[in-house]
Amino acid sequence: MSAAVASPLASNAALDVARVRADFPILTREVYNKPLVYLDSAASAQKPRVVIDAESRVYEEEYANVHRGVHYLSQVATDKFEATRKRIQTFLNAGDENEIVFVRGGTEGINLVAQSWGRANLKEGDEILISELEHHANIVPWHLLAAERGLVVKGIPIHDDGQIDMEAYKGLLNERTKMVALTQMSNALGIITPAAEMIALAHDAGARVMLDGCQAVSHSTVDVQALDCDFYVFSGHKIYGPTGIGALYGKAELLEAMPPWQGGGEMIARVSLEKSTYKGVPHRFEAGTPAIAQTIALKSALDYVTDLGLDRIAEHEAMLLNYATERLNAMGGITIYGTNSAKASIVSFTMDGVHPHDIGTIVDRDGVAVRVGHHCAQPVMQRYDIAATVRASFAVYNTLEEVDALVASLQGVKEMFA
Ligand code: ALA
Repeated sequence: MSAAVASPLASNAALDVARVRADFPILTREVYNKPLVYLDSAASAQKPRVVIDAESRVYEEEYANVHRGVHYLSQVATDKFEATRKRIQTFLNAGDENEIVFVRGGTEGINLVAQSWGRANLKEGDEILISELEHHANIVPWHLLAAERGLVVKGIPIHDDGQIDMEAYKGLLNERTKMVALTQMSNALGIITPAAEMIALAHDAGARVMLDGCQAVSHSTVDVQALDCDFYVFSGHKIYGPTGIGALYGKAELLEAMPPWQGGGEMIARVSLEKSTYKGVPHRFEAGTPAIAQTIALKSALDYVTDLGLDRIAEHEAMLLNYATERLNAMGGITIYGTNSAKASIVSFTMDGVHPHDIGTIVDRDGVAVRVGHHCAQPVMQRYDIAATVRASFAVYNTLEEVDALVASLQGVKEMFA
């Protein structure tokens, strides 16, 4: 398809985007008197009315602290809070709801694994493999642990097209490898890694795998048992849910052997002045008052995407991604990073002679919201010897017309710098 080809707006019979958009109140607003074109869902997705209402309803009708009260409202809130844990279990196809730990988001989940599992299981000289695609959240916690324990962190390289170099990966795995910390989908490039194959290889080498699902979880069905990952994390806010809540899945036998990582209320069995003993999993890992309303509303987000159908969402986003890729390539002067076909929902690019921050600032005045910078994935930028890219990311509510709006705005940037 060339830039001259009209948008095939009628081609998506599978998903009624107009109806979906009506579910998201923010999408009707304008910025700088222009319609909002929100292409930054990889940073954080907008919220449908059902999620907004669910969170408000907690404060209006159901709010009290959880797990602590004998009174009516505390029990209502606790039941709703725990219903989200059960919903996440079915959403990820985990074997047991106690394998689901509530965390603030993906970052906290990875830090929990590094500090609890890592401190209990890793010793000097042990190796951790991370890929060049990782977000800083799946790099820095391992660096912190490595500095404390004398561990070695090694990078799995990627090919020029952004996909994992599997031969290099196989060559890096050895008997000292104890953890492979891997993204299921790159936030900077959109590349989907061959996670199942990499997990099987890691297990053959005797290593555990921490899978970062923050990006992947809103674009594909996840089955942690089929993947056989040891740990999996995701953030609620990237799957149309509230901020401040996410989940860590861990295999039961691993979680049960892990010590607490934060101490406080509600994670203890008994406390005296001399000594504390702890609850079982998952509560041992959930010290303090949690994000109650956000947790309850996360269930509505998971129900929402399930009702729409993740396969249909993925199909719609693939259409947007293909169209955007074709139109950007047709513009000339654009370099797209991450060209492997195993890819979802994200197009990351530079324009000859224009800094990505300038592009982001200029297209913003046309109402187009994109992320620019290193995307908290500096090793990816180093791999391509660039400082930054422009990243447009697509979600269930985006349209082909919005891709056209992005391209038209970029055309204006190009002409400005010609
Ligand atoms: N991790 C988020 C992103 O990729 C914030 O933009």
